[in-house]
Amino acid sequence: MTLSFSKVAIIGAGAMGRGIAQIAAQAGSQVWLFDTQAEAIQKARDAVFQQWDKLQEKGRLSAEAVAGYKSRLLGAASLQDLAECELVVEAIVERLDIKKSLFTDLEKVLTPSAVLVTNTSSLSVTAIAAALQRPAQFAGYHFFNPVPLMKVVEVIAGLKTDPAVCQRLTEFARQMGHTPVQAQDTPGFIVNHAGRGYGTEALRIVSEGIADFATIDRILRDQVGFKLGPFELFDLTALDVSHHVIEAIYHQYYEEPRYRPNVITAQRLAGGVVGKKVGEGFYKYVDGAAQVPAEPSVPVVDSIPPVWVSPRAARRMELLQLLKDLGA
Ligand SMILES: NC(=O)c1ccc[n+]([C@@H]2O[C@H](COP(=O)([O-])OP(=O)(O)OC[C@H]3O[C@@H](n4cnc5c(N)ncnc54)[C@H](O)[C@@H]3O)[C@@H](O)[C@H]2O)c1
Repeated sequence: MTLSFSKVAIIGAGAMGRGIAQIAAQAGSQVWLFDTQAEAIQKARDAVFQQWDKLQEKGRLSAEAVAGYKSRLLGAASLQDLAECELVVEAIVERLDIKKSLFTDLEKVLTPSAVLVTNTSSLSVTAIAAALQRPAQFAGYHFFNPVPLMKVVEVIAGLKTDPAVCQRLTEFARQMGHTPVQAQDTPGFIVNHAGRGYGTEALRIVSEGIADFATIDRILRDQVGFKLGPFELFDLTALDVSHHVIEAIYHQYYEEPRYRPNVITAQRLAGGVVGKKVGEGFYKYVDGAAQVPAEPSVPVVDSIPPVWVSPRAARRMELLQLLKDLGA
């Protein structure tokens, strides 16, 4: 098999960058990870190496395979180190201005044939490409968290993307063991548009005092069958990503009320309570495990009353009786 891209750079060594680096190295590419925080590169490599070691211990990977993967996942000290890469995948902070500026810098360093892609969840691929000299070589490549387990990737063409670039990215997705899906460059693409209500409606239910977040998670996970409840998902994605995604999609759809952001995520983001990666989001995490409040117990009744009366109606009846007794 000829790899579509044999030299790959990943910019941003956070939750997404490390996952993409892992599957690209597993596919056989030589991978360089770059991050403005040097310690993030080391942390990401350690985390991926640990995963491979665990799989080896379980007998699911051979020692040779693990040694090969590890030798193909390197750190880079600067953008200049990436000059020979054929593909650069950006997975940095979800901000249009910062992404644009990174790609402008990258174009100065890379060869003209290099393909540049963004893992943005919500920003316009065409808008990012507008800053570039070679927009035909640029596309969206949207993976999901956690990357090695979520085996879908959206391949998004901007207005000026060369279709051959999308074709090459599609092939590479398959070589990494993922299922590529062609998506339009519309806000949220397919998945983050279709799933919009999951988080925003849950936030609304909490803000209206109908139920607390742990109860909503329980219902959607245990009764409806979602893998994660909306607040567990917020904690996994982290609010420094999701809150910006909610705002970006809302504004790009001209303030569509159904997509309106919520003060709950704005406030938690401002307070740094963003999710599992910092040890606290909607849940607190101890050794990586969410501390879920105990489910409220339901009182056991010996016999069911013949007619159920709501507490409000019962109170009204009590008051009426009282007035009657007083002779009013
Ligand atoms: N978290 C998710 O569930 C998820 C899912 C799909 C897509 N995404 C998208 O992927 C991107 C990254 O998300 P994440 O969750 O991995 O974020 P993260 O916060 O875990 O990691 C981002 C990393 O980028 C680094 N960084 C920031 N600015 C940089 C720059 N200018 N140059 C180099 N490195 C820089 C940070 O130091 C950090 O290590 C975002 O665009 C996000 O929308 C996230």
